[in-house]
Amino acid sequence: MCGIIGCVGRQEETLDVLLHGLSKLEYRGYDSAGVALAGKRDAVDIEKRAGKLENLQEALEGVEMQGTVGIGHTRWSTHGPPTDSNAHPHADCEGQVAVLHNGIIENFQEIRDELVASGHDFASDTDTEVVPHLIEDALAEGASPEAAFREALSRIEGSYAIAAIFTGTEAAFCARQDSPLVLGLDADAYYLASDVPAFRDYTDQVIYMEDGEVARLDPDGWAVTDSSGALVEKDPHVVEWDAKETGKSGYDHYMIKEVHEQPRALRECLRGRVDELGDQVQLEEFAGLAPPSSVQFVACGTSYHAALYGAQLFREAGVPAQAFLASEYRTSPPPIGSNLVIGITQSGETADTLSALREASRRGAPTLAVTNVVGSSAARECDHTLYIRAGPEIGVAASKTFASQLAALNVLSLAITRTGDSREAIGALRDLPSAVQEVLDESTGEAVAKEYIDADAYFFIGRGYQYPVALEGALKMKEITYKHAEGFAAGELKHGPLALVTERTPVIAIAVGDGDAAQKTVGNIKEVEARNASVIAVTDGESGVERYADHVLPVPESHPRTAAVTASVQLQLLAYHSAAQLGRSIDKPRNLAKSVTVE
Ligand code: F6R
Repeated sequence: MCGIIGCVGRQEETLDVLLHGLSKLEYRGYDSAGVALAGKRDAVDIEKRAGKLENLQEALEGVEMQGTVGIGHTRWSTHGPPTDSNAHPHADCEGQVAVLHNGIIENFQEIRDELVASGHDFASDTDTEVVPHLIEDALAEGASPEAAFREALSRIEGSYAIAAIFTGTEAAFCARQDSPLVLGLDADAYYLASDVPAFRDYTDQVIYMEDGEVARLDPDGWAVTDSSGALVEKDPHVVEWDAKETGKSGYDHYMIKEVHEQPRALRECLRGRVDELGDQVQLEEFAGLAPPSSVQFVACGTSYHAALYGAQLFREAGVPAQAFLASEYRTSPPPIGSNLVIGITQSGETADTLSALREASRRGAPTLAVTNVVGSSAARECDHTLYIRAGPEIGVAASKTFASQLAALNVLSLAITRTGDSREAIGALRDLPSAVQEVLDESTGEAVAKEYIDADAYFFIGRGYQYPVALEGALKMKEITYKHAEGFAAGELKHGPLALVTERTPVIAIAVGDGDAAQKTVGNIKEVEARNASVIAVTDGESGVERYADHVLPVPESHPRTAAVTASVQLQLLAYHSAAQLGRSIDKPRNLAKSVTVE
């Protein structure tokens, strides 16, 4: 999704700061990029290009860009294709202002028609471009840059994180409504961004902006005001993670680095929440929360798979629980009753999940966010928040955040349902980081990936806690290899998907423990074998499944709940090594974005 960076006070370094910030935002996914510079002079310089950031950098080589205040943008197309002219920033007819925007302006067509009728020339297909032209009209009426910016904001409806710079001033202005925007404060420079990594190399002091707020940054200071112009007191937060955490640390890709960070991420997630003896969990932040009588989960993609897993945890604790795709929840809302509604979203900014949570809240349900990002919209808007503490995740394909979501959901379900008989599950949680380390140290995922690199499709099957793992394994595989992959509840195979199974479609079966779920999965594997498909078993060896498998990806013996985490690590490695052998763009798969801020 689109990314924003802006800076004030870095003088002749402004352009370098913008380009560095844009490189840090690349992980969000984008298809064009641009920058604008201004200052105490009568021009705003804009340069923008479709495609990768390198295209913009090349274009800048031959250009003299000047300015002591600047804004930069990575665009992920919504209105109009990825072309140079649709890239942000956008200008007015006179070139007095440059504007960039994340989100969607819902009433742009009506405003655009009006502006065109009054003589404005538009250079792009975007919704954003109405803003500089609205500003132009307000400036023509004698408004100051800030007043003109506010006037434009008062006309637009929809979601936005928006920033503008003007000729003749070293100030930058920005505002947010339903789209993330943060300010960074340094001793002699200020930053604005959609995401902290954009300026984390320069400062750890962050201001989270709220909906309806407008900020002015200039070399002499910063101020945040509400929609009426009244000053809002804001205290900076200190970002806890280090800038180094957003580097690749010698790995070829962020994804594989993040896969290897899982033992540490899990330790962080469980720190202070699972005691050393492994027989108690505590979540101080929820000490006063009454056990819920029922739970609804809302989430998308990988987080939805975590939600399916979470719903099982609660059901096992005797609490009725259901997982919903967030994008469907608002379209066809279930009866809310006395449900606690839990939104799972690593970014805390997924538009579909936020809108489902808002719907639940509007209908009177208490809401709880399970998220990775401190100060994210989900964290700010929900009644309660559980942080998964995975650290920054840059690879578009979620890996360590999924593991940390599963671990956090274990703690949450045990803590808020006050489940008594849980010693075994808690002990397994305590041992989980070292179990994941064991998988990482011993995985043969690379060799297995090579063996099946020419497969037509990959099918993943599992039951119980391993069913969401099968879905997640397939999602990972399709996202980063671009090959057909599907996850099924193992028992469903014979109800249709078996028709697809051939000797060219390996079936990856997750069977852990020797319980009913694993034994029945073994039965399903036999059905597959009879159709000549190869079987890759992800197993701890308890069920005897390896007898029917062509390859085994082993996981340590543990509780089925935690085996779901170790099994998903094996599947991440399988997908990663398959994608690496196919030479795919692993960290930024085609058409995908890290943070999906449009519905
Ligand atoms: C897949 C992936 C996506 C996200 C989904 C929700 O690897 O990362 O499916 O899980 O877009 O994102 P969050 O968790 O930020 O709400």
